[in-house]
Amino acid sequence: MKKISERIFYVGVNDDDKVMFEGLWPLPLGVSYNSYLVVDQKVALIDTVESGFEEEFIGNVNEAIGDRAIDYLVVNHMEPDHSSLISYMLEMYPSLVILANAKTLPMLKGYHNVPEERVQIVAEAESVSLGGCSLRFYMAPMVHWPETMVTFLEEEGTVFSGDAFGTFGAVDGNPVDDEDTFEIFREEMMRYYACIVGKYGNPVQTALKKLSALDIKRICSTHGPVWERNIQSVVALYDKMSRYEVERGVCIAYASMYGNTAAAADALAMELESLGVPYAIHDLAGNNAGELGLSGALRDVFKYDTIVVGSPTYNNGIFPPAETFMKALQARLIKGRRFYAFGSYTWAGASVRQLNEYAKSMDFELLGDGLSFPQAYRKDKVDMKAVADILK
Ligand SMILES: Cc1cc2nc3c(=O)[nH]c(=O)nc-3n(C[C@H](O)[C@H](O)[C@H](O)COP(=O)(O)O)c2cc1C
Ligand SMILES: [Fe+2]
Ligand SMILES: [Fe+2]
Repeated sequence: MKKISERIFYVGVNDDDKVMFEGLWPLPLGVSYNSYLVVDQKVALIDTVESGFEEEFIGNVNEAIGDRAIDYLVVNHMEPDHSSLISYMLEMYPSLVILANAKTLPMLKGYHNVPEERVQIVAEAESVSLGGCSLRFYMAPMVHWPETMVTFLEEEGTVFSGDAFGTFGAVDGNPVDDEDTFEIFREEMMRYYACIVGKYGNPVQTALKKLSALDIKRICSTHGPVWERNIQSVVALYDKMSRYEVERGVCIAYASMYGNTAAAADALAMELESLGVPYAIHDLAGNNAGELGLSGALRDVFKYDTIVVGSPTYNNGIFPPAETFMKALQARLIKGRRFYAFGSYTWAGASVRQLNEYAKSMDFELLGDGLSFPQAYRKDKVDMKAVADILK
């Protein structure tokens, strides 16, 4: 438990054990599930945490308010990493009433069989008083679920933003940011955005416009630090990513069964290095410690304007990890990128042509036909320097 202001207490938890968030995204630095108490004449809890943390969570709550009752549970978002303990809290606090919007109601029933009399529906811009302060609710649909809303504590300029402005990475010690916290979390925040929110650039833009009307002094999101000193940087990053704005540079994403396509990918990286072109390289099937695989590649697609995909031909098609990547780009509505494909085959190459088809479906600018090469990569046979020259 950490006291954040006169009224606000952080009662969230860190998860350092989970290997894959949503079963898909590696968590080398862990993740936090943030929950907050607003304590006034009435007490409101904003969201809960993932199941498995009941004891620690209730311990945090007790540390903040002792045996006082919780009057309201605000449900900003129903994804189970925040809503798992709703049933548990309804049992622990028999007089607790849930504050949620109309779209949340069927989800509360479906996940937790919550009786309607324990839910008070709130509408856009409606305010609920806690005595000396009040909570106001703003809908933020599809950031990144349809029922998503944010809660604004006007008296403290604090927005409880749900997953918006969230980041991977556990939060040790004081959750409130220092001057350098944004730089420490920047890459993980980008990876979080790319993996979790990346499809919803337009709804994020709509939410940002709505929030820009508020005088925000503190952002309390559901993952990562509480933002006070870095609000501008955090909002600017979300704004930039949701506009799909990128820098010149190359994201090399490859997958390889026997190392031949991988060798070409490494050679390309070395050529880009010697040309001084900014680049990142990710093994899409990589799952050794420290490798970010698909999630790292998606992050860097939101960083650089050029996507290069390497895949061997596999059963007359694209090797599955590379095809998953192309589908992940489609799902995120990635646009305005330059594209190049390469890969090894043995008897009839098909992967490069099919990768190009994916790229065309997203209106990417093809920087050539790609490079399909038979069997082994060898420097004298496969000219990755020429490829690097096209990409620079
Ligand atoms: C299950 C399997 C399916 C394959 N299908 C094809 C194919 O349809 N056409 C082809 O030319 N090569 C095919 N190959 C051969 C690979 O493309 C070739 O071994 C390539 O060099 C592998 O590249 P890598 O070392 O980057 O994995 C297949 C290999 C495997 C193991
Ligand atoms: Fe979520
Ligand atoms: Fe979340």
